[in-house]
Amino acid sequence: MLRADDAIAPMPMGIRGGVALPAALAWHDLAAISIGAMVFEPMDIAAAKAAVGGLPIYLSTELANAPSGSQPAAQISVRQGHAVSLAEMLAGMRTMSEAPPAATSSKKRACQLMTAKIGLIGLGNFARRNIIPGINRARDLDLAAIYDQSPDAVRMVAEGLPPGVVCESVDELVRRDDLDLIYIATPSAAHVELVEAVIAAGRHVVCEKPFASNYAEAARLADMARKAGVVTAVDHEMRYSAIYRGMKNLLAEGYVGNVVMASVNFSTDYSVNPYYPATYYWNFGSIRMHTGGVMRQAISHFIDLYQFLFGSIEARGGYCATMIKQKPELIESVSDQGERVLSAGAMRAVDADDAIALSGCLPNGAPASIAATWSAAVTTGTRWLIQGDEGVLSYEGAVLGGLWGDSLRGARRGETLADLPLPAEQYADMRPTAPGYMGGLIAAQLEDVVAVIDKRSEGMFATFESECAVWKAMEEWDR
Ligand SMILES: NC(=O)c1ccc[n+]([C@@H]2O[C@H](COP(=O)([O-])OP(=O)(O)OC[C@H]3O[C@@H](n4cnc5c(N)ncnc54)[C@H](O)[C@@H]3O)[C@@H](O)[C@H]2O)c1
Repeated sequence: MLRADDAIAPMPMGIRGGVALPAALAWHDLAAISIGAMVFEPMDIAAAKAAVGGLPIYLSTELANAPSGSQPAAQISVRQGHAVSLAEMLAGMRTMSEAPPAATSSKKRACQLMTAKIGLIGLGNFARRNIIPGINRARDLDLAAIYDQSPDAVRMVAEGLPPGVVCESVDELVRRDDLDLIYIATPSAAHVELVEAVIAAGRHVVCEKPFASNYAEAARLADMARKAGVVTAVDHEMRYSAIYRGMKNLLAEGYVGNVVMASVNFSTDYSVNPYYPATYYWNFGSIRMHTGGVMRQAISHFIDLYQFLFGSIEARGGYCATMIKQKPELIESVSDQGERVLSAGAMRAVDADDAIALSGCLPNGAPASIAATWSAAVTTGTRWLIQGDEGVLSYEGAVLGGLWGDSLRGARRGETLADLPLPAEQYADMRPTAPGYMGGLIAAQLEDVVAVIDKRSEGMFATFESECAVWKAMEEWDR
């Protein structure tokens, strides 16, 4: 079977998310088409089946059921997160395969046929466990340059990478003119300086959260990026989860009617359990100077999700407390068997918030709240409740370290709360219990960033602009 994966390219003009067939194939050679089904609505697929004049279309998830004589000649996968119409896309593909090939520029992002190249600054825990697997998994994206100030961190990542990927300095990396975008995955204290360097070099930028350390800095960097005309993204990868997409779709369809109240509770032991990475236990978990605390480090994700689901959340009073006021320094060593051994050192003061109760207002005037702690003895995870005048949505994420679970539940007036089927065929590996879930979300997000750079999508990721609103609310809550 010929895979069309390499040939997947946006239409140079006109049709959003169009794809080209491989040169070796013409439309009339096709016996059937298989579509990577993650991005399409069921109705859209039905419309597309009608639009291609009898040619069978199989979702990749349905392939096993295809009759043997009609196995697809081409398998088309489309970058996750594209706002494409499948019918439009197939019509475009058909037109392209019948028309002579259009002249394309040799400049990479202008012709949009080649793999995007990404540089990564900061190769710590989160980069190694999630960002690099995400980059490797993203379609048409190559990890082309890396830098970390720690030689050990570089060593852990560099093995097996082709020559020329490791850079000796930030300056060397940002000056590489083959990079399309640069991902900053250092701790927050270094974000501002690095973002400035990336924007000054005219590169598109993805930055880890918390982006900047306060509203004024965030606003200044957003302004700088706007003037430079670069695409910006902040890593709030949860926007790409099947759960939150499902919630957003249901809210938009009016499943709950007019929202009358929304709340989220997030409770974990992240900042008191020494078996989490030391940076969490101490810096991010406990020290304000390191942009630490449960609000900036964890709840910024939920403030962003309020924006994603409802458009905005306006701060209307809150209380941020430090309940565990001191805890022991961590002393780490490695046993003869190579295991990480932890012991308690001297007690040290905690000055960042670890328990918060925040109130807010949604665009329709409905009250919204966030209650969170990461100093809990027992992790209960994430619990959303969205009440409307027609129904309710409830989400309890109690697996995978307490953040995520698969059970999105709901009820309409007169019904009892029951599991709502998530659109599995669309979001198969975006479900919280899918293997490598975090990397999958980051892959989807990066593909979406590249699609925006290529002007093929509006994008649904958080931007420096949207993160300014997160910072504004956090400062209001933490006066
Ligand atoms: N989006 C999420 O869900 C999520 C989850 C965890 C962490 N994070 C964020 O990821 C970022 C990194 O967290 P981590 O746990 O990987 O931290 P870490 O301390 O494990 O790793 C950070 C790395 O950055 C390097 N570094 C620091 N300053 C640098 C500089 N100026 N130039 C080059 N390299 C530098 C360090 O040497 C280290 O290797 C933080 O901003 C954190 O908030 C995001």
